[in-house]
Amino acid sequence: MTSTGSAIDTDCITLTRFVLESQRQFPKATGDLTQLINAILTAIKAISSAVRKAGIHHLYGISGTANATGDQVKKLDVLSNDLFVNMLKSSYTTCLLVSEENETVIEVETDKQGKYIVCFDPLDGSSNIDCLVSIGSIFGIYRKNGDGPPTVKDVLKPGTEIVAAGYALYGSATMVVLSTGNGVNGFMYDPAIGEFLLTEKNIKCKPRGKIYSLNEGYEKFWDEPTREYVKSKKFPESGKPYGGRYIGSMVADVHRTLVYGGIFMYPSTTEAPKGKLRLLYECNPMAFIMEQAGGLATNGRQRILEIQPKEIHERSPIYLGSKDDVQDVIKIFEKHAK
Ligand code: AHG
Ligand code: MN
Ligand code: MN
Repeated sequence: MTSTGSAIDTDCITLTRFVLESQRQFPKATGDLTQLINAILTAIKAISSAVRKAGIHHLYGISGTANATGDQVKKLDVLSNDLFVNMLKSSYTTCLLVSEENETVIEVETDKQGKYIVCFDPLDGSSNIDCLVSIGSIFGIYRKNGDGPPTVKDVLKPGTEIVAAGYALYGSATMVVLSTGNGVNGFMYDPAIGEFLLTEKNIKCKPRGKIYSLNEGYEKFWDEPTREYVKSKKFPESGKPYGGRYIGSMVADVHRTLVYGGIFMYPSTTEAPKGKLRLLYECNPMAFIMEQAGGLATNGRQRILEIQPKEIHERSPIYLGSKDDVQDVIKIFEKHAK
């Protein structure tokens, strides 16, 4: 008699198992990337736990300091950053870290150095913490080229050099979405066993969606192409208008765009000509994931992943999501450039 009633999968694919198996395809792999991703997962589990019981542990509120780009820092940002930095340093796989919360690059102690560089936003969407709306963490992993001590130059690489990127969404459940350059997979956190389990295999973003997402409150400051594009979605010549959705946490807005299709935008404004989102640890990892899922990511004129960064906290306008939707934006930018 076969057992059909058991709800427990004893052969589940955990994220660690998944990365181990994909690394086995590279005979020269040392296991360092697996170790590095495991360190990030430990940080994510701890952040997820803190997010879930933040109120009880008095983690709400502003900690009183400002981060490298001048935003108010919340206590959860500080905790998340400490977790990322500590876990990454003690993984023995990294040499340089770039965090949204640190003004300069963090060089790992020589005796703990490995070959990877990680750029991360330890807690994204912090304005949503106090009202219990979804927040996230974002990371991009690069390999250091050549010998010699790591320098800032080693992190100023275009996103095309990314080895792996991902994000954690602390939403109604905690999920990690990861790409090591061979498609995109989603892993749901099961707190009962403390593991991330593969639940969304080979995620693909629809070629066209029905949702646009940006902060409409800033319309006054938008550039012309953005204004024209949004108008075309609200007042289409034929068919139904697109729906509007904006959470204000990039991870949550991008995750919805990945899963349902559509477009997420943070354009250039007269107030902020380079937009708000940071290239190294917000735009690039998300652009990498979106392209790996069959979507596109542009600043309007150039593919996000091909931008050569000049400084670590550089910002970029961004339009990403379903390929046909992003193409529509690109066409409008081309028209305006003529
Ligand atoms: P962070 O919390 O890491 O500073 O990032 C917040 C970002 C991003 O998550 C979101 O897309 C954007 O800020 C929202 O900005 P607006 O409030 O200007 O719309
Ligand atoms: Mn952020
Ligand atoms: Mn942040």
